[in-house]
Amino acid sequence: MASTSETSPVQYEMLDRVAPDAGPLERVARRIGRRLGWDVYRRRSDFHYVPSLYGDRYFKLADIREHPGFGELAAEVIGHGRTYMGYARLFTLWQAVTQAPEGAIAELGVFRGGSSWFLAAAAEQAGGGRRIFSFDTFTHFPETDLELDGSHRPTGDYHPAEDVRRYLSRFASLELREGVFPDTAAGLEDERFGVVHVDSDTYSSYRDALAFFVPRLAPGGIVVLDDYGFVTCPGATQATDEFLAEHGDEVQLFSLLTGQALLIRRSGR
Ligand SMILES: C[S@@+](CC[C@H](N)C(=O)[O-])C[C@H]1O[C@@H](n2cnc3c(N)ncnc32)[C@H](O)[C@@H]1O
Repeated sequence: MASTSETSPVQYEMLDRVAPDAGPLERVARRIGRRLGWDVYRRRSDFHYVPSLYGDRYFKLADIREHPGFGELAAEVIGHGRTYMGYARLFTLWQAVTQAPEGAIAELGVFRGGSSWFLAAAAEQAGGGRRIFSFDTFTHFPETDLELDGSHRPTGDYHPAEDVRRYLSRFASLELREGVFPDTAAGLEDERFGVVHVDSDTYSSYRDALAFFVPRLAPGGIVVLDDYGFVTCPGATQATDEFLAEHGDEVQLFSLLTGQALLIRRSGR
């Protein structure tokens, strides 16, 4: 699962965004520096580090946990312990839901329900009563290929579908579709989608998700591909690249540092 790779870089980055109080060593270094006529700052990787312009306020990146509307919702779902997604990847989903055009929301890859809960809560927060379709087998990855899908095992530590259904039952607009996708998409051929979250890890599921959802995306509609940049999901990357080779005139791909990628449907198509 892409999710397991998140802890190190993303959480490190998140923690690093919050300026800690200076420790004793840093205070001593600063004091000595001042005597010598220097300003001493702690160097941190990946920061816009221009002390001559910003002085000791060099933590310039906003802390997304303080973003109005987002932070509390993300903290709530992380607290439920039903998703491996952390703040950074949830922020991508939240922006997609709040900014994408009208149309239904879909998720392929629900697992214990956390990310579906978050999509539905963000949609509720944004208003508009959008329909949400959440797809999973709730038992297994239907078609894994050792070569294409790396170390994926066909089964895992699932919660029963009934448990996930109960957890998501507060959202009247959300429909759980249990079984193997794309069979479970039957009846949705005429639906228009504004946001689709694909978090299903494998080659075959990505291939089928892109084939079904992209032609049904509203102009400007967004597909968030959770696994595109993860080396643990080579099949997801390959299926996406193959799709783009044929349909690059319909959608545009943006890779994100979180490991996710966005596919955005070009308007006027
Ligand atoms: C990484 S988990 C999803 C994690 C979830 N989005 C979260 O945030 O916790 C991937 C899920 O995709 C599901 N899946 C993969 N291929 C599928 C398919 N063809 N049809 C239905 N479910 C599928 C698996 O059953 C698994 O639960």
